[in-house]
Amino acid sequence: MTLRTPSSTPGTPDPNWWRQAVVYQVYPRSFADSNADGLGDVEGITSRVPYLASLGVDAIWLSPFFPSPLADGGYDVSDYRDVDPRLGTLDDFDQLVRTAHAHDVRIIVDVVPNHTSDQHAWFRAALAAAPGSPERARYVFRQGSGPDGSLPPSDWVSNFGGSAWTRVPDGEWYLHLFAPEQPDLDWSNPSVRSDFEDTLRFWSDRGVDGFRVDVAHGLAKDLSVPYRPSNGHQLPLDGSDPLYDRDEVHEIFGTWRAVLDEYDPPRAAIAEAWTPAPRRVLYARPTELGQAFNFDLLEAAFDPGVFRDLVEQNLAMSAHSGASSTWVLSNHDVVRHATRYGLPLGTDTDAWLMTDGTTPPLDRALGLRRARAASMLLLALPGSTYVYQGEELGLHEAAAIPRDQLQDPKWLRSGHTVKGRDGCRVPIPWTSSGPSFGFGDVAPFLPQPVDFGASSVEALEGDPDSTLSMYRQALAARRRLQQGESLTWLDTPASVVGFARHDGWRSYTNFGDAPVPMPSGTVLLASGPLGDGELPGATTVWVA
Ligand code: GLC
Repeated sequence: MTLRTPSSTPGTPDPNWWRQAVVYQVYPRSFADSNADGLGDVEGITSRVPYLASLGVDAIWLSPFFPSPLADGGYDVSDYRDVDPRLGTLDDFDQLVRTAHAHDVRIIVDVVPNHTSDQHAWFRAALAAAPGSPERARYVFRQGSGPDGSLPPSDWVSNFGGSAWTRVPDGEWYLHLFAPEQPDLDWSNPSVRSDFEDTLRFWSDRGVDGFRVDVAHGLAKDLSVPYRPSNGHQLPLDGSDPLYDRDEVHEIFGTWRAVLDEYDPPRAAIAEAWTPAPRRVLYARPTELGQAFNFDLLEAAFDPGVFRDLVEQNLAMSAHSGASSTWVLSNHDVVRHATRYGLPLGTDTDAWLMTDGTTPPLDRALGLRRARAASMLLLALPGSTYVYQGEELGLHEAAAIPRDQLQDPKWLRSGHTVKGRDGCRVPIPWTSSGPSFGFGDVAPFLPQPVDFGASSVEALEGDPDSTLSMYRQALAARRRLQQGESLTWLDTPASVVGFARHDGWRSYTNFGDAPVPMPSGTVLLASGPLGDGELPGATTVWVA
């Protein structure tokens, strides 16, 4: 085996850097616009590396920045080994990696293997070629059903609404688990497999430290006839769904691990796999990707019993599989957690968004207080924590985007009945005023809320009690204190989740409304003001 060591890897290569890392997710088109076109770009991200380094993150995960017609915010890739010209060049990317590494910050890139864009050279060739050709065999082309083949081959539905099959002029149908502009690849085809291995090497050779694997649970499909129904939203525990989370998928990630291990240090990887928890950890085994996103807390109510149980289960599963646990409350696909926690329990957030965020009422202050408390709890846990851009500013979901400016395929494909994910993708406010609050020099591609300036980096920077200051202090303290990968649960009142790490570092979160007596010890940091001898509701405190 050849080991490749790019000169730009930060510090002494530590093969385990990712196990307890804080990873900051950048959604490139919404982060920083350096060339006044309303779209965030690679140079913009590079210019903000010092900010991210001072925040104290260990790594940046970049959502797709590859050439893309943007039918799904860049998750429709037309070339896996280049930079979207609207976002920059490969030279700009190399500069970003160099700058990040000079600040001791690692880079993780997104890889989207389940589907390409319909503008990818492979799909164009497939459309130009005849049924049965090798070009079509990279995708899933099939004959339709019904006497003349005019009905889709099966009743499988797309994640964005409507049939998962689209017909082409010669009568064949192709499969797309997402938008029609995102045709699914056939991973039983060896040329698909070897090409993706080359993509992993292409970015690893450029010095990236890891990969986030999109829809990792979708690659292996049972396409035998008769097609069986799929239940993508509630997958079985035995891997028997025809489309998702099949056992065969693990062989693919075993081969990926071999590629990632060609490098020194081995490249890290994390699976996005929306599967039941016990099966999710399979993707994270050391022989596969190493980590898988744990979305349990992201889907949970702000409740002490629920949080405690989920933490306990996930740590146990990770210990069993040898993976490191991950923790996440927000990303580019969900309503921001400050907003979720400010809505009445059980609110259907899709329905709430459709009202433009007025009914039921959002308690913004309570949502933010809880969000800060939950984030500090996560940052005290063993394992790695993923922070979505803007959560360190306490951003809320931008709920009032005018309907004619929405861009998410969920909105477009649902017949305008699901508002979709644009509200968490609104460009970041860097300054208190200006045409796009410092995002760039012109209005951004998605409109920002008028009061966004109050949540900007500039507005929060000097305020010791701001959410930004809390994240900075929490990340610095965690870096100093973090050791080992275990915790000990502490006896606490019912509304409190408390645990000890090591050397006396303890974290207590009061999920209730009423204050509880303050735990003993010296206060290291609190997510909000502390009462006199009391830990107020919706507050986390770290003590030593
Ligand atoms: C993942 C991405 C999401 C995208 C989908 C299709 O779930 O996180 O944003 O729409 O895959 O690629």
